[in-house]
Amino acid sequence: MGKANLDWSNLTFAYTPTNYHLEYYYKNGQWSEAKIVEQDTISLPIAATCLHYGQEAFEGLKAFEHKDGSVSVFRPEENARRMISSARRLLMAEPPEELFLSAVEKIVKLNKEFIPPYGSGAALYIRPLLIGISGILGVKRSEEYLFLVFASPVGPYFKEGLKPINLYVEEKLKRAAPGGTGNVKVGGNYAASLIVSKKVKDMGYNEVLYLDAVHNKYIDESGPANFFGITEDKKYITPESESILPSITNKSLMVLAGELGLNVEQRPMPVDEIFNLKEAGCCGTAAVITPVKSITYRDKTVTYIEGDQIGEYSLQLYNKLRAIQLGEEADTHGWNYKIEL
Ligand code: PLP
Ligand code: COI
Repeated sequence: MGKANLDWSNLTFAYTPTNYHLEYYYKNGQWSEAKIVEQDTISLPIAATCLHYGQEAFEGLKAFEHKDGSVSVFRPEENARRMISSARRLLMAEPPEELFLSAVEKIVKLNKEFIPPYGSGAALYIRPLLIGISGILGVKRSEEYLFLVFASPVGPYFKEGLKPINLYVEEKLKRAAPGGTGNVKVGGNYAASLIVSKKVKDMGYNEVLYLDAVHNKYIDESGPANFFGITEDKKYITPESESILPSITNKSLMVLAGELGLNVEQRPMPVDEIFNLKEAGCCGTAAVITPVKSITYRDKTVTYIEGDQIGEYSLQLYNKLRAIQLGEEADTHGWNYKIEL
């Protein structure tokens, strides 16, 4: 398969245009067939509900090339279901699971030169997007929707890659609250988070660790990823919260952690527990597992990693997840969705 001329091993999490994107339109209660579009721009009514009232949801998933040249996408059914739950929350038309999966398959095939080669450490990131496109002035749901899917080859989200990052516990600013939209993947959550990320980056940290909005006591998640900790007595602990995104990576890691002999606990996690952890990490499609070097909470900093030596279990989990995604290890859970190129 001919590959695009890119510096695959040095890709970052940045947008690289590819051959085509896909558009599906929802009109009069029906989804259209796929429209294959070459240019990477769209045209919208100036009163479109996505622009004014944030009727917007998105997803993120990755396609990987295996050693034998075959290609698979990691758990796309889960992303399809999560997009449906986001659509429901914002009262948008729901792209059916079959349509979502067929779009994922098509977008990979149409852009196959952009699937990073096995061994490069990169992946083809797939970004499905759902927006309300009717021009309506009042605060109302759109009648018509655009479900758009594009792909872009990417490297690690944190430019450090597997290098550990420093988190800062933010107490004042929130991205989401219970009853709000933190548990779905909608653009407004990210808009609300930008100032927080900027604040902590300006202070010299890599990312924020949010606390819950009600008690200001329990860990929610990091900016673009869920959070987990590993204790000396072999527990994998990850927050349960109404205001965090149910991460597909975290869901997978909980299974793998169990297989590695860790006791998995998903429960409200008081922030004070950071002082009892042996390892900590952020996890997500873009972040994969990004080990946490330190967390600063009020005037205290707890450091888990000296130098760049990643914790034993974080590394094992990372290696295991990557081995499955890259087809190096048997996919015993049926997580890889094979794309026939
Ligand atoms: N939390 C937030 C806020 C995210 O944006 C993401 C990324 O999708 C995640 C968690 C991780 O979710 P997943 O593992 O499904 O990519
Ligand atoms: C992902 O991990 O897919 C994300 O969407 C996180 C971030 C890029 C918003």
